Amino acid sequence: MLRESIPDIGKMVEPDRVRREVYTDPAIFELEMQNIHEKVWIYCGHESQVPKVGDYYTMQIGRQPMLMVRGKDNKVHVLYNRCPHRGNMMCGDRHGNTGEQFRCSYHAWTFHHDGKLKNIPMMDSGYAGNRLNKESPELSMKRAARVESYRGFVFASLSPTGPSLKEFLGKSIVAFDDMCDRAPEGEVEVVPNCFRVIQHSNWKLFMENQIDALHPSVTHQSTGRAAHEVEKEIAKKAKAGEALSYHMLSAFATVTIDKWDNFQTINYPYGHCILTGYMGLRPQDPDTKAYDQIMIKAYGQKRFEEIVGVNIHHVLVYPGLSVQSPLQQLRAVRPLGVDRTLTEIWHFRLKGAPEAIYRRSLAYYNLVNSPATLINADDLENFWKCHQGLSSDGGDWVSFARHFGHDIERPGEVSSAPNQGTSEAPMRNQMKAWAEYMRG
Ligand code: FES
Ligand SMILES: [Fe+2]
Repeated sequence: MLRESIPDIGKMVEPDRVRREVYTDPAIFELEMQNIHEKVWIYCGHESQVPKVGDYYTMQIGRQPMLMVRGKDNKVHVLYNRCPHRGNMMCGDRHGNTGEQFRCSYHAWTFHHDGKLKNIPMMDSGYAGNRLNKESPELSMKRAARVESYRGFVFASLSPTGPSLKEFLGKSIVAFDDMCDRAPEGEVEVVPNCFRVIQHSNWKLFMENQIDALHPSVTHQSTGRAAHEVEKEIAKKAKAGEALSYHMLSAFATVTIDKWDNFQTINYPYGHCILTGYMGLRPQDPDTKAYDQIMIKAYGQKRFEEIVGVNIHHVLVYPGLSVQSPLQQLRAVRPLGVDRTLTEIWHFRLKGAPEAIYRRSLAYYNLVNSPATLINADDLENFWKCHQGLSSDGGDWVSFARHFGHDIERPGEVSSAPNQGTSEAPMRNQMKAWAEYMRG
């Protein structure tokens, strides 16, 4: 029924442009939830969010309220946050510890951490002669069809079929390897809690912006310039490297618009994408040198050079994740409606790394990704303005034609050509994947 009310997807997405309704039509949004977010692998959270038995964290997958919980078997289970009796949400809080079992606040049905029914008050008398018994699957909390974890990052798919998590991630798996490998102990742990931002625009505007190399020196120019002025003052007085926090902001202005063509985007199946590094994140200050020594001790010189030499700034795992692995940042996208999108902004500690290296990640988190920074506010304003413009009759198409026809195609990847880092290849790649998903 839903499909019949939607115009032909093939007419909405062309290789270098898409119709504006792709962003504004509520019927298309519903179909996206069915065919994309409620089918593919979506990030639930990090295992370190639920360290103890009974710890749970709630999150949204598509339109579904879900939770992940640490069971007595030490596994992380992902369940629908719904009581099978009369539908009451099992956990009303964002996170907590459910103790030995889940206990519904309405009529005290209880469940094991894997969702299986444990007990119903006066079950035997209440359900005598009834078709329901303790083993009936509809009396247990429904589980996500598939759950997989990679290096501590937990994903769930609500579809029983489809590629495995590793097949789905493909080359974008480097996001998690790069983040964890930079830890002397090979693991990261989450820093609770995250920032949550609701933007008044379609979710795809966020995903497209994450690897839009043309926008930073324009959208964030004023913030970058102001930071650069302060950075210069500090550099006059302090030792080299002490102004790294300001460098995180000033790079938005000092890396001028023409320089962004020097970088490269590499695009993969399922809409994933990598932006190569640009910020010069290997300063030679004492903190970095101390960290380098710990890493060399842990991995040996050769492997250390390989790890810190990974040249990535940003990895997009379509449709729901934006990872900045060298800075231990991650943003999870949770669409709430056609014009409302929640992003969860998390950061992580490198296990075994000195406190100063964590402080660097925290600085980036606060200065660039937090709702308090002007960088985030700059982007949010564009998202809202784009959604307003796309809701108008001022035009029918969104253009992704920049450097169209010049990208380099190899089996399994499409790269922007040399000196064409501002190619709109990432948007074309996302919309190609989108159209494939939407056709089912
Ligand atoms: S709704 Fe949960 S026990 Fe009744
Ligand atoms: Fe931005």
